[in-house]
Amino acid sequence: MLRVWSYLFSLIALVVLAGVPLKAQGIDVSSPDGRITVNVSDEGGHATYTVSYDGEVVMEPARLGLLFADHHGFEDNLEIGAAGERSVDDTWEQPWGERRFVRNHFNELRVAYLSTTGPAREMYVTFRVFDTGIGFRYELFEQDALQGDLRITDELTQFNIGGEADAWWTPSRQFNRYEYIYRTGTAAVVDDAHTPVTFRQPSGLHISIHEAALVDYSGMSLLALRPGSFEAALRPGSDGIKVHTTAPFKSPWRTIQIAPDAPGLINSDIILNLNEPNKLGDVSWVEPGKYIGIWWAMHIRERTWGNDGIHGANNEDVKRYIDFAAEHGFKGVLVEGWNIGWDGDWFNNGELFDFTQAYPDFDLPMLADYAAERGVRLIGHHETSGNVANYEAQMEAAFDLYAANGVREVKTGYVADAGDIVRYDENGVKQYEWHDSQFMVGHHLRAVLAAAERQISINAHEPVKDTGLRRTYPNWMTREGARGMEFNAWGSPPNPPEHISILAYTRMLSGPMDFTPGIFDLRPNERPPVREDMQRGDPSNRPQTTLAKQLALYVVLYSPLQMAADLPENYEARMDAFQFIKDVEADWNESVALLGEVGEYVAIARQGRASGEWFLGAVTDATPRDLQIPLTFLEPGKIYTAEIYRDGSQAHWDTNPYDYVIEEREVTREDLLDAPLASSGGIAVRFVEN
Ligand code: NOJ
Ligand code: CA
Repeated sequence: MLRVWSYLFSLIALVVLAGVPLKAQGIDVSSPDGRITVNVSDEGGHATYTVSYDGEVVMEPARLGLLFADHHGFEDNLEIGAAGERSVDDTWEQPWGERRFVRNHFNELRVAYLSTTGPAREMYVTFRVFDTGIGFRYELFEQDALQGDLRITDELTQFNIGGEADAWWTPSRQFNRYEYIYRTGTAAVVDDAHTPVTFRQPSGLHISIHEAALVDYSGMSLLALRPGSFEAALRPGSDGIKVHTTAPFKSPWRTIQIAPDAPGLINSDIILNLNEPNKLGDVSWVEPGKYIGIWWAMHIRERTWGNDGIHGANNEDVKRYIDFAAEHGFKGVLVEGWNIGWDGDWFNNGELFDFTQAYPDFDLPMLADYAAERGVRLIGHHETSGNVANYEAQMEAAFDLYAANGVREVKTGYVADAGDIVRYDENGVKQYEWHDSQFMVGHHLRAVLAAAERQISINAHEPVKDTGLRRTYPNWMTREGARGMEFNAWGSPPNPPEHISILAYTRMLSGPMDFTPGIFDLRPNERPPVREDMQRGDPSNRPQTTLAKQLALYVVLYSPLQMAADLPENYEARMDAFQFIKDVEADWNESVALLGEVGEYVAIARQGRASGEWFLGAVTDATPRDLQIPLTFLEPGKIYTAEIYRDGSQAHWDTNPYDYVIEEREVTREDLLDAPLASSGGIAVRFVEN
């Protein structure tokens, strides 16, 4: 006990022993600005927390606790033993990101819950309260009652939102992992939701629940207990156990972002702040940038991944892409379908992928040299089809091969139905795991670390969700984890007009997304087929946006690896609009969400790290709107030329998506930018200092 407390105190800079708190009132901890207060209590022998905003309770008392398969857990008969508090206000620098300097400003309360019956045991819960939300996590020290393997069967954490709140979520434990059209409704009808899940209470207060620093634990979804009241549902492993661990251990942080308006959710850094600092040392080799690739051609059936006469990753096509990248300033060329294993039913034959054998018409060293001579790099690709056993057996050799050929970024893929990740256990028995299981959380980190050893960065598709680990492992640059552009090629239905205005306030709160924007041919399935046996998909699968909105995505959807996803010839046909994609950056000094409502519209400005130039993007759902966007992010006393790419007066995503206007205007920070957005339209602006 003494040892535990001295450890606790050594971690706490400024310790205030709260003594024995008044039981019925618990202990309060507030955000630095005083607006958010968490009350932590042991009333009725339960560990609970209650959240207030501006003095009003906004989340009713909710339970905390952990249960184990063969140890006494923490559920009832608990009392607060002692508590420590501290405050932190510091700033750290990101090697790349939405902003360069991140302020980490919170008040912390750390509470020990002691059992009052059964074997003596204690559980710590640490709360950090920021101006933009709350993080809390469990901590167990080594103790007599928690010896040996701890097998977590349930985490009792609850979140009480209230059934009348509006909600935006994707369903959890469904075959398509995180790739669903967002559902909207009241919190009362949410049954099992992936996080981040975003709510708007009747008062207008926005709350988004997620987690930070998901390491050696399983992912959490929110399972309805009662309408508007949720419990953490941890994804079980194939043995039915949710988490295998031993004491001492710390859980991931459970996060509750709170903001008076929708943009406030975006302007929060709590997920990153709750992660540990960079563990990789010098990461100057991690380079954000824009790329093109052998990719969309397969999704619109122009080419194939496999080797069948129209194989996409062939020497000639790849050279053509490299030339285009060099000419227009792109750093990378992604080469999907370069390696053996795609022929036949690749979705179900993950064991056939060979990660070091190229197809005969793809000469890796030759193409790597060809690219290097032109200042471009190949971006590698490892599709596993969810057969992680097959991938892990080859992973080291696969990264070695890429490193030897100057590849610095690898896109990985885990296409398999949810719950169908293949693993072999210690007895050689085949097991199936979830994409967000503890096993996969571990796998992704193994891959990221193996890549880091070779100065390679990772962009994972069909990943586990982002929980801010890019701070600790800055080579884990971006990922998918939601419906991206690919659904507009074959989604049936494709992403609806409101998709981006929901993503910005949900999925994007967790971290960067490789959405792959920039489609210029907005009816790709109306192209004549390239071959008789390769009919295009349903023509109603197409981006449901205007062309100007495609440009706005480069600012709205943050990714340090940002793709220009369309075929080079489609850019060549519209070089005027393509200029914005050439100019926009992928790495930022600062980012600020300016205006918006969840599911309706969003306007974001970002300042590029290389040029110092500001860029702005705004998009709307199917409703046209005339936004007046404040330019207060610009520097005082300066005049800028705004290079504006916007919807024309007749633009409409469905009937007239190509009606766009490119114009220049002089502006200062005093101005409101007039932004007329068409139905599912957008605006993209570059500000050049005069
Ligand atoms: C799904 C990924 O999201 C997509 O980008 C990729 O092209 C295919 N899998 C094939 O790996
Ligand atoms: Ca995908």
